[in-house]
Amino acid sequence: MSMNSAQIREKFLQFFADRGHERVPSASMIPGNDPTLLFTNAGMVPFKDVFLGTDKRRYTRATSAQRCLRAGGKHNDLENVGYTARHHTFFEMLGNFSFGDYFKRQAIQYAWEFLTEELGLPAEKLWVTVFTEDDEAYDIWAKEIGVPEDRISRIGEKDNFWSMGDTGPCGPCSEVFYDHGPEVWGGPPGTPEEDGDRFIEIWNLVFMQYNRQADGTMEPLPDPSIDTGMGLERIAAILQGVHSNYETDTFQALIKAAAKAVGTDDLQSKSLRVIADHIRSCSFLIVDGVMPSNEGRGYVLRRIIRRAVRHGHLLGAKQAFFYQLVDELINQMGDAYPELKQKQQVIQEALQREEQQFAKTLERGLVILNEEIAKLSDGVIPGSVVFKLYDTYGFPMDLTADIAREQELTIDEAGFDEAMAEQRQRAQQSSQFGVDYNSQLKSSQQSEFLGYSEDQGQSNVVELFKDGKQVEQLAAGDNGIVVLTATPFYAESGGQVGDTGRLLLADGEFEVNDTQYVGKAIAHHGTAKAAIKVNQTVTAIVDAERRDNIRRNHSATHLLHAELRNLLGEHVNQKGSLVEAERMRFDFSHFEPVSANQLAQLEREVNAQIRANVDLKTQLMNIEEAKKAGAMALFGEKYDDDVRVVSMGDFSMELCGGTHVRATGDIGLFRIINETGIASGVRRIEVLTGAAAINYTQQQQKMLDQLAAEFKTDRDSVGEKVAQLQHKNKELERDKEQLQQKLAQQAGGGLVNQATDIAGIKVIVAALEDTDAKALRGLVDDLKNQLSSGIVLLGTAQANKVSLIAGVTKDLTAKVKAGELVNQAANVVGGKGGGRPDMAQAGGSQPEHLSEALATATTWLEQTLKN
Ligand code: ALA
Repeated sequence: MSMNSAQIREKFLQFFADRGHERVPSASMIPGNDPTLLFTNAGMVPFKDVFLGTDKRRYTRATSAQRCLRAGGKHNDLENVGYTARHHTFFEMLGNFSFGDYFKRQAIQYAWEFLTEELGLPAEKLWVTVFTEDDEAYDIWAKEIGVPEDRISRIGEKDNFWSMGDTGPCGPCSEVFYDHGPEVWGGPPGTPEEDGDRFIEIWNLVFMQYNRQADGTMEPLPDPSIDTGMGLERIAAILQGVHSNYETDTFQALIKAAAKAVGTDDLQSKSLRVIADHIRSCSFLIVDGVMPSNEGRGYVLRRIIRRAVRHGHLLGAKQAFFYQLVDELINQMGDAYPELKQKQQVIQEALQREEQQFAKTLERGLVILNEEIAKLSDGVIPGSVVFKLYDTYGFPMDLTADIAREQELTIDEAGFDEAMAEQRQRAQQSSQFGVDYNSQLKSSQQSEFLGYSEDQGQSNVVELFKDGKQVEQLAAGDNGIVVLTATPFYAESGGQVGDTGRLLLADGEFEVNDTQYVGKAIAHHGTAKAAIKVNQTVTAIVDAERRDNIRRNHSATHLLHAELRNLLGEHVNQKGSLVEAERMRFDFSHFEPVSANQLAQLEREVNAQIRANVDLKTQLMNIEEAKKAGAMALFGEKYDDDVRVVSMGDFSMELCGGTHVRATGDIGLFRIINETGIASGVRRIEVLTGAAAINYTQQQQKMLDQLAAEFKTDRDSVGEKVAQLQHKNKELERDKEQLQQKLAQQAGGGLVNQATDIAGIKVIVAALEDTDAKALRGLVDDLKNQLSSGIVLLGTAQANKVSLIAGVTKDLTAKVKAGELVNQAANVVGGKGGGRPDMAQAGGSQPEHLSEALATATTWLEQTLKN
């Protein structure tokens, strides 16, 4: 029965839906419920918590076709792609799941029924494996289903005990294999030839029974469950009568598109298979919000794209080709995954950009690599070379390994890791360079922060520091650090600067010019104006006006962050921020400049939120709850179990420890003053709020008024006035040119009559004044026409440069080339030139030698023409 991939997917889902399973759409490849997992690598990942019993669904049976990625993390197939018939970075896993509903027997029966009855596969082609100790599964296959015992093998933990990752749900499993026939090399599971392509695993039935803990112990799950997975690509190969997944409909279409895009006819090429595989993983990663970068998931994406680009290059691709395959991918998979269509533009742009960026260094890197390879004597590319390619040419390690493998070489991975570690250390050392005045300080105090609600309060001095050492008191005039039991002063963190203000003493004060954390103690840095002792009571007073400005700027970053995501897309992630009293800046991932229109819209939208004057709410929540509620958290940041969540209406919700306005209206006004790129894929926006934004606006107005005054008009007409002036200026330029031409013509008017005769050829050599190169060119053309056969060389000297033009009528270019002639003269005035045989131009820097230059050229002409 031949079916295309879409039909097989549908048949599977319908089969299980008919048997009481809920059809659940594919979840994202970025697991939403698991920070330990890089990518969704199996159909069960979205149900992980259901197996563990911590998430309840209204159904106990489910079926899905889940998009999966195995490139990084526990299950990684990247290196095998292109080398085997069945490995992919991206694939679709068809699965049926039971959450404490049916178990082994039913799961095995369903699988057998689907394969042999629904799909009509011949029973004698199917082989099965069970976990060594699993007699129950063995008996079901042998006695109830009737699989002959010589086609059942017992296999150990490595292959027949499945786990999602190092921790989480797991259990023994039973796999079904398909025999592609004796013409393909390979042996049944458990034999030494099992890695061949003849016997291919098509379906894995996992009997979920345990939750593996970090220390390796197995906790029984609340209810034994079923998780199965069948690769759509593998079953499609069988049903389409081909033995490689790459010969199935979806891949053939992508391979053809790739062949066209890179310009090759060799449809069997391994590189085309790699590209066809990679376009799927890369496009879906971008659909799921990942962008190429240098860390984490973004780096996996970058590695895959670069691997694909290199393979395109191998096939002779001359320009960006990879992004062109997105159209065909959408043809193939867009119906099942409408999100591909929705994000088409984002996918194409991101791929093309990455491709172009890498193309710049690919070729040079390859030259270096080939030189190094030629020097090898032991077949191992040294770690230092792999590192240099990585560091300078952007070659991910596995890309170099891929190239090495093609030439039957290996790379020194350990050496590469070492070079990486060294670089990291160097980077750390250089970043520690500079002042870190907290580095020697240690405090075991934990200060209570009162500043969310108060900007002043009474407190006790618990610790004092001077010159990096703990002291009992500070004398008047000392610079030092004061730690209080509780304080309204905010210590710098989360991008928000530390507060300033005063600690009032009975007879003076301590002036606070910065506040920083020392461990969990809040340290007030500053100058004692009077003596201050441990245990003394103080009144801590924050500079409230400054703090209010900081509040405005901090709340504004949240509004900006939310609006950037609305406007530019979910790929926008905060990369850093600086919240000060005077201004704030916000860094975020985005791969192109934000346009002027977009900036204007950002301003409008954020200001609309300000006018809505919504109350700002803060809540303490458990981190998991907060994430579930949709609070934005910084990627890679470590948070405590309990976190503070700041929300503004339903517009913005973020984990944040900073200080904020009471309601958005307090921000007053929001103005963007700058937008720039600060690193590849990272943009920075700078913003003013409140009074600073008003000042800025007024200054801009003032500048406009000054301009208007200069132009003797009003604000509204400045633009028009400038346009008029520009127009006028252009006209004047044109007039000037015409005049110069006229002058040149006049000057040249007499030249025809002054033509001399050298060996029977009419020659004009002359220097002109008050003209320029452009006018000279016109004149040389004129003179050539008038002479109809002859040679012209004109020069003119301006301020400190010389222009020379030579013209030779076509009939004479065999004798004299204009370029040679002009260079005879150019040499003398310190210049050089070139052009066509009938017209050439040169410049020079020594006007004082112009006449000598023309004389030299004339002599040369005489010699040349007379010989
Ligand atoms: N989760 C199982 C696998 O991925 C079905 O093989």
